[in-house]
Amino acid sequence: MSEKLSFPAGFLWGGATAANQCEGAYQEDGRGLANVDVVPIGPDRLAIITGRKKMFDFEEGYFYPAQEAIDMYHHFKEDIALFGEMGFKTYRLSIAWSRIFPKGDELEPNEAGLKFYEDLFKECHKYGIEPLVTITHFDCPMHLIKEYGGWRNRKLLEFYERLCRTLFTRYKGLVKYWLTFNEINMLLHAPFMGAGICFEEGENEEEVKFQAAHHELVASSLATKLAHEIDPENKVGCMLAAGQCYPRTCNPEDVWQAMQEDHENFFFIDVQARGEYPNYAKKYWERLGLKLQMTEEDLSLLKEHTVDFISFSYYSSRVAAANPEASEETEGNVFASLKNPYLPSSEWGWQIDPLGLRITLNIIWDRYQKPMFIVENGLGAIDHPDENGYVEDDYRIDYLAAHIKAMRQAINEDGVVLWGYTTWGCIDLVSAGTGEMKKRYGFIYVDRDNEGKGSFKRSKKKSFYWYKDVIASNGACLGD
Ligand code: BG6
Repeated sequence: MSEKLSFPAGFLWGGATAANQCEGAYQEDGRGLANVDVVPIGPDRLAIITGRKKMFDFEEGYFYPAQEAIDMYHHFKEDIALFGEMGFKTYRLSIAWSRIFPKGDELEPNEAGLKFYEDLFKECHKYGIEPLVTITHFDCPMHLIKEYGGWRNRKLLEFYERLCRTLFTRYKGLVKYWLTFNEINMLLHAPFMGAGICFEEGENEEEVKFQAAHHELVASSLATKLAHEIDPENKVGCMLAAGQCYPRTCNPEDVWQAMQEDHENFFFIDVQARGEYPNYAKKYWERLGLKLQMTEEDLSLLKEHTVDFISFSYYSSRVAAANPEASEETEGNVFASLKNPYLPSSEWGWQIDPLGLRITLNIIWDRYQKPMFIVENGLGAIDHPDENGYVEDDYRIDYLAAHIKAMRQAINEDGVVLWGYTTWGCIDLVSAGTGEMKKRYGFIYVDRDNEGKGSFKRSKKKSFYWYKDVIASNGACLGD
């Protein structure tokens, strides 16, 4: 087989989900309430996830899709069997913090929560699937938000450390790939999801966000340290919402603007991969007069415990301009971007740019020289199932095929080091951005709609069989 067509031996093919978007069972077996539970579908969602509207409990007249999601809590055996049938080598999932520590600040974990994930990991291993676990995916116990103000409070370091110690000890031998915080840079754009932050009247929002970022970054280093101490086999990664920012034109002012926007995202990974705050960030804080609390011990933790690999999500590239008013905006993964006239868009306005993935892979590789893992990539689209739940989703196949070819080129022709690829939403699940079910990403259709109706029945889409072939041929069946 031509080397050009296939992926390295041992390449980790798979799919990804997050607890709050698929598990449901939000009150079962002692689970506590989490931020993600109280985010409804509908027009208030954006204000809530960005920390501008306070909704700390369920309110009359709203629908909360995470309460039941796709009920994976009760279907996980069936779902993992389907992942096994596709030949997954890895399955990325996240832990619901409030299943393990329902309030977040207890000293002892909830055994039923621990047992749930233990059973799930064992089920994965039955099919030769290596779990890849995100410790926090937009997930924070509500008690920690009400009582401590979320990640703005340094106390969360202690609670997170306890969570990590519990997980690494209990799952030693069952899990070896860990991600500390999903899309850590999302904290700046969706602080309630990323850090359990809801702003108080009159406070300095930038200061609150960067203080919370510091706490998460130190927590991530602490987790890396612990993971390595508890099991030297553990590999810990950071996780970035990636997508290169292009300048709208070659006007240096636009190039400069694009560079600033990239810095906002790389800021986090610069710390997690290189171990120190970049000068551009320190200068930015200085200009704004931000007073951030950090200790010498924090800085040495950051320095000494950098990540083993860099994982990221990629849906699209972005565009920036010095004078953005002159361009049309487009929807994107919570971040706004200008419209790129050279690219087609999804039904949700996310622009489709497979070459942008190759560019992003090269830029991250050049910047950090650490192995990479693409842990999210996919197309959210409206599916039209037949009476058996079968969907002819050629649009999804085309999107994924183009991106897989781009990453194959990045590996085989550019020499980047990529450990694996997990498509986002390998089974239909609740959208994080909009709360919709109809924005589907899966290879597996789930009978559930935006209003919470449906039987939860699973069925295979056309892309299910296609991805199975991709994995079985290690990418070669895609041709040139
Ligand atoms: C990423 C998140 O931002 O994008 C996922 O890590 C999310 O949780 C995914 O689901 C796709 O976004 P959306 O808004 O279409 O669900």
